[in-house]
Amino acid sequence: METVVSGIRPTGNLHLGNYFGAVKNFLKMQNEHNCYFFIADYHSLTTHPTPGNLHDSVKQVLSEYLATGLDPEKSTLFIQSDVPQVAELYLLLNMNAYIGELERTTSFKDKIRAQPENINAGLLTYPVLMAADIIIHKAAKVPVGKDQEQNLEMARKFARRFNHLYKVDYFPEPKPFNFGNDLIKIPGLDGTGKMGKSEGNGIFLFEEPASIKKKIMRAVTDSGPTQMNQEVSEPIKNLFAIMQQVSAPDTLKYFQEKYANCEIRYGDLKKQLAEDVINFTTPIREKINEIKANDKYLSEIAEMGADKARKNAIATIKEVREIIGFRKF
Ligand code: TRP
Repeated sequence: METVVSGIRPTGNLHLGNYFGAVKNFLKMQNEHNCYFFIADYHSLTTHPTPGNLHDSVKQVLSEYLATGLDPEKSTLFIQSDVPQVAELYLLLNMNAYIGELERTTSFKDKIRAQPENINAGLLTYPVLMAADIIIHKAAKVPVGKDQEQNLEMARKFARRFNHLYKVDYFPEPKPFNFGNDLIKIPGLDGTGKMGKSEGNGIFLFEEPASIKKKIMRAVTDSGPTQMNQEVSEPIKNLFAIMQQVSAPDTLKYFQEKYANCEIRYGDLKKQLAEDVINFTTPIREKINEIKANDKYLSEIAEMGADKARKNAIATIKEVREIIGFRKF
């Protein structure tokens, strides 16, 4: 069993795209590997240094992942800041992380463009903290999307550099988790691209039915097919793609046929899609709310995960201190 580590941003509510993407993969991984999933609340301070509602965001995201099936008995679920040993490893790794290489990372360049008024050192050293998150558990694999590939590459570099500088073979180099071809991309409602956080484009798992319905009824369409078996345009393809995940196969076939013979009414398609999405998300939404209302359960889960993660982290820090040369009298 390989050790897998993955961080979750506390600011991103789960949408349908996440559900059929990252979450599905997490659920598979937790059955096959020794997984550590944590909510990266330290990291979130790099962009939101004075969060008004950090605790609420962490609670919401934890509830969402639990509601979708992340199992605290199978994997270790914890909050990053409950394991402060990671901050010590971050400090130690920072001594061997060079300004030049940090300044060159794409995510840093993107972020300083996004928040020119707050180019802080935490932002610059974001990949160092991420490397510490990963290697403190000696992870073999990290599931990463395209946007995190460079950060993982840096984690590999920092692990390698540590081994080289202190002449040890201590940290394994974390490899990207390869999901093969079973990654399903869920498109957004705005006609192009995949579902993201942006307003209007995403359907969130916690979202109330009325709001889901409104979004779907307003989804971008086209002016309708004019010839038999006409190629399906991007916005309509997207609605069919969502339908494929949440509706009965017969329903999808019915609307595809209506499209093919130019009889489709997009209003009907959307009404059906809204109903099926709502039926799909309702049990999840109810579960999220039930979990969120149960502080006792949440605190038990968080404590259990933190205990396990801390045990590992303490052992690593002890060894790292010895390797570097810290010693007691
Ligand atoms: N940087 C990741 C993101 O933005 C979150 C993250 C923090 C992470 N630490 C990590 C992911 C460690 C994987 C491993 O999504």
